[in-house]
Amino acid sequence: MAFLDGRSIVGKTFLDIGCGSGLFSLAAHRLGAARVLSIDVDPDSVRSSLCLREREGNPPGWEVRPGSILDPELVRSLGRFEIVYSWGVLHHTGRMWEGVENAASLVSAGGLLYIAIYNRADGFAFYDDGRFGPSSLWAVEKRLYSRLPSLLQDAVDWTAMSLMVLLYLATLQNPLKKIRSHAKLRGMSWRIDIKDWLGGWPYEYASVEEVFRFLSRKGFVLRNLKSTNGLRNNEYLFERTP
Ligand SMILES: C[S@@+](CC[C@H](N)C(=O)[O-])C[C@H]1O[C@@H](n2cnc3c(N)ncnc32)[C@H](O)[C@@H]1O
Repeated sequence: MAFLDGRSIVGKTFLDIGCGSGLFSLAAHRLGAARVLSIDVDPDSVRSSLCLREREGNPPGWEVRPGSILDPELVRSLGRFEIVYSWGVLHHTGRMWEGVENAASLVSAGGLLYIAIYNRADGFAFYDDGRFGPSSLWAVEKRLYSRLPSLLQDAVDWTAMSLMVLLYLATLQNPLKKIRSHAKLRGMSWRIDIKDWLGGWPYEYASVEEVFRFLSRKGFVLRNLKSTNGLRNNEYLFERTP
């Protein structure tokens, strides 16, 4: 809501592309969206979102469907939404720009497109969250990791976790405190977050300029931006010109 910068969600239609756990769809529903549609290509994510919806009393204004944003037939069938939200998804589809284009096509005139996409970090640098660049290095790492048998993936995870603990100690931070606070901050355990980063494949990234130019050409105006110089997501709020 803070990122929407005063714009209301009440009574709006809301599409959550790559809904994952379904938490953001639940939030949109509770914040008063008139209709929420959650889609995800992953059956576990669809189940998780359906489970949240059930706990919420199966509200008729919230629908969960399996499907890919890269599926042209699905995209054609969805109609348009006043808010299209896709956080940390389009760079994991394997065809990011096609994903961005399809997501943008679902925004109604005057509607909002809220997306988060991994930043392109070109230089060799260490960042405050312990990660280091460039992005292209991680593209290679993730591709290799995703091909490893799960036992070897676990070994990579443990190596990364040990290095992280050493880094915390070297920078005089209490590792236990860091690990516990991580779950609170991210809503995801420290270990899963590390696995998610090491193995999050497909993986693409884009600079703010690339996303800005791509969507400007499609008639979108940038209304809000939260950018990073590291490997995290840049967040964008675009508005489709009426
Ligand atoms: C990093 S998670 C983000 C989940 C959620 N948006 C969040 O912020 O918690 C990425 C999600 O994108 C979904 N995804 C990947 N490719 C997709 C596609 N082509 N169409 C729809 N969802 C996709 C994954 O299944 C996963 O749930």
